[in-house]
Amino acid sequence: MDNILWTVKEACVMILENYIRKLSKENRIERFDKKISRNLEIAGVLKALEPTPAIFEKVKESEFRVAGNLFCTKEQIADYFGIKTEDIIPTLTKAIENRSPPEATKDAPCQEVIRDDVNLDDIPILVHNEMDGGPYISAGVVVASDPEFGQNLDFHRAMQIGKDRMVTRVVRGRDFHKFLERNGEVDVAYCIGNTPEILIAAATSVETGVDELEIANALRPIMVTKAKTVDLMIPADSEFVLEGRVFLEEKADEGPFIDLTETVDVIRQEPIFEVKKITHRKTAIWQGLLPGRSEHKVLMGMPREPTVFRKVAERGVDVLDVNITPGGASWLHIAIKIRKRNEDDGIKALEGAFGGHRSAKHVWVYDDDIDIYNEQDREWALATRFQGDEDMLIKDREPGSSLDPSAEPGTKLTTKIGFDVTKPLVVKGKSFDRAEFPKMDPSKFRSD
Ligand SMILES: Cc1cc2nc3c(=O)[nH]c(=O)nc-3n(C[C@H](O)[C@H](O)[C@H](O)COP(=O)(O)O)c2cc1C
Repeated sequence: MDNILWTVKEACVMILENYIRKLSKENRIERFDKKISRNLEIAGVLKALEPTPAIFEKVKESEFRVAGNLFCTKEQIADYFGIKTEDIIPTLTKAIENRSPPEATKDAPCQEVIRDDVNLDDIPILVHNEMDGGPYISAGVVVASDPEFGQNLDFHRAMQIGKDRMVTRVVRGRDFHKFLERNGEVDVAYCIGNTPEILIAAATSVETGVDELEIANALRPIMVTKAKTVDLMIPADSEFVLEGRVFLEEKADEGPFIDLTETVDVIRQEPIFEVKKITHRKTAIWQGLLPGRSEHKVLMGMPREPTVFRKVAERGVDVLDVNITPGGASWLHIAIKIRKRNEDDGIKALEGAFGGHRSAKHVWVYDDDIDIYNEQDREWALATRFQGDEDMLIKDREPGSSLDPSAEPGTKLTTKIGFDVTKPLVVKGKSFDRAEFPKMDPSKFRSD
């Protein structure tokens, strides 16, 4: 965090469009100037280019531009903050621990244009796939509030079902679902077109009652403003804001839509979102995000890594790094690197990790000589350092992730397995270490 030296004034101008301009200047974004449809075409091009960012200047059905693939990798996110990828976990941890309230402004970019007649057809909500139930907001950060807990930030996808109506997926147990259960109907602002401090803060899971806008502000100073029709403080720099109300008991079919595991989610009865006002920047850019693909994955998994890290450290284990791996849908699998000091450190780390991320199904703990970002290295460690009867932790029929197709339908019950892949502190037989070859410079042995 120390190397992030933005002032509030500079922060205010880091709207998404300015970031896209910066990418453009550095030739790091693909620009498309021919007409393209929001129906399938934009999603198809984003998929073909992934992880390269893209901006679509002329959308057939809308006056607005669309951008996507902006934050598909940890490298892109680290680049945005001007830090190294290995500094992401400490930076996030620091922001979660040192939250700070953002400054408020009456002069918010997101309210440069206020549309009194709501027509969702005016904005380029993407249809991502043939089988989708309709056009979907997939990068929508939802601001909601509860009389006791105050404000909360979450992601909730929303499918358009009318000119001013959407149906939104609210996973049971999320803070927003708690708010709906307590109040029946909840005023909301769906903010679309955000930079990573807002996106990452919205995806963190902290105690109910923590306003994640304070985490965003600790990541990089932001401004907030009062929404026009609902009593909420919203990010001032979002490209679009859809204000309205979500009703717990008014429901409609939601889906099909691709979820994080890249499989097609079932159709469920989910709450209706009635849109009452749309505000946006004058030159607003719609933010597309491919469901189940790398941007969805990185935003989902990465913000959980600091929580897992902290929970493992709380067990007294010297934890060095945590990787919620992309192969495990960036949600179900965790690889942890520790400096082992006690024989039971591996098992303690596993218990800590399952406590820090309740959706995790398989967790591996490795020694500090293993590269937890390298699948071959990880497999080598499993092959040479693990015994199933001694080093495995099995948690039978625990509540898991609603995203896992193999979890019991309805209950989410699943069997969780932890693998202690660390080598013993006292070695009795063969060595567990990779033998070193002599280090030689081949050029020394050529005459030319
Ligand atoms: C791109 C993206 C899309 C998401 N879509 C949904 C969604 O449609 N419904 C949902 O309940 N959670 C969704 N999530 C997950 C939650 O927003 C996220 O886990 C959040 O941290 C929950 O916060 P809470 O602990 O405050 O409830 C999504 C996350 C991301 C990154």
